[in-house]
Amino acid sequence: MRPLPALLLILLPVLQLVVALNAVDVTEGYVSFEVPSINRTCQTYYKIIGTLRPGVRPLIALHGGPGVNSEYLEILSDVTNGRTGPLIVYDQIGNGLSTHLRETAGNKSFWTVDLFISELKNLLAKLNIKEYDLLGQSWGGMLGSSFAIQRPRGLKHLVLFSSPASMDLWIQAQIALKNKFPEKLRDALDKYDEDHIPTPEYEEAMAYYNSHHLCTLDPFPLPIIHGAEWAARDQTVGDTMYGSSQFKVTGSLAGWSVIDQLPNIKVPTLVTNGAQDGAQDLVVLPFVERIPRVKWVKFQNSSHMAHYEEREKFMRTLSKFLYH
Ligand SMILES: *[C@@H]1O[C@H](CO)[C@@H](O)[C@H](O)[C@H]1NC(C)=O
Ligand SMILES: *[C@@H]1O[C@H](CO)[C@@H](O)[C@H](O)[C@H]1NC(C)=O
Ligand SMILES: *[C@@H]1O[C@H](CO)[C@@H](O)[C@H](O)[C@H]1NC(C)=O
Repeated sequence: MRPLPALLLILLPVLQLVVALNAVDVTEGYVSFEVPSINRTCQTYYKIIGTLRPGVRPLIALHGGPGVNSEYLEILSDVTNGRTGPLIVYDQIGNGLSTHLRETAGNKSFWTVDLFISELKNLLAKLNIKEYDLLGQSWGGMLGSSFAIQRPRGLKHLVLFSSPASMDLWIQAQIALKNKFPEKLRDALDKYDEDHIPTPEYEEAMAYYNSHHLCTLDPFPLPIIHGAEWAARDQTVGDTMYGSSQFKVTGSLAGWSVIDQLPNIKVPTLVTNGAQDGAQDLVVLPFVERIPRVKWVKFQNSSHMAHYEEREKFMRTLSKFLYH
């Protein structure tokens, strides 16, 4: 090995200092969550990237699914790193590192939006968070908008990222996308999707959906794969709230809509979607038309995961909205 040039030797301590300055605190933990309807104390797993101190305003991210985990939202720390407020992600109960409740599978009166609003309020209280920004991706934005229409104290900004304003519009968009699939794949979905029969044609059609309308990157980023793995391992939440078909909601979210209540969202709101998104324009339009202080940004080269698909542009957009 050649000796290091002198200049590099001099630079080394400086580089180390920079690395140390850039090091971000990461705190993981659990808050207990009493669920009265089952008389049980559950645990919500959370991760704080950055430092949560009294008086700072964190960005709290709500993951989708329902029934995946939060790992794929950790990348949003691109936006909070270097800011005073940290990013907080958490696994909603029923999956990931939070309490699983397989014994409640199929109980639609247990798995409701209200349950997850209670969990969010509990997390805010236990972490002693007074002011915060809230981002929800996909189902997370359904949860976030359902929460925001209650005008919660302390909410400063809302981001609805690839989320529908109603389940009916969402299904309308899924069917319109499906109708543009190659004929063989469309037929497989028409034949097998409702009963979720995993024939090779059906698997191919779902893979086509996922690579065109869930995430257009090949391969998928690992955290997105991990989310899918969690969802497959414990289907309690996804099946009970959404159902096993992509094109028909049979779970407790059937008929869900916030459209009529959207004028109650008074905080500045950013709505985003992608051109190839399962959340097509028609599903986000009610947000844009009815939330008083709203900005809509559409990512032309993205589907459902713009924070990976157009990472830099997404982060710049989010940063500008939250901090300027
Ligand atoms: C809840 O749990 C406590 C402690 O195990 C028990 O005493 C109580 O009867 C339970 N209540 C219901 C409604 O199941
Ligand atoms: C379903 O959940 C509700 C609400 O938590 C509960 O009251 C009910 O007993 C549950 N039903 C069954 C069959 O477990
Ligand atoms: C979309 O991606 C393609 C290929 O990477 C690139 O050429 C194009 O400029 C991008 N368009 C936008 C709007 O970002």
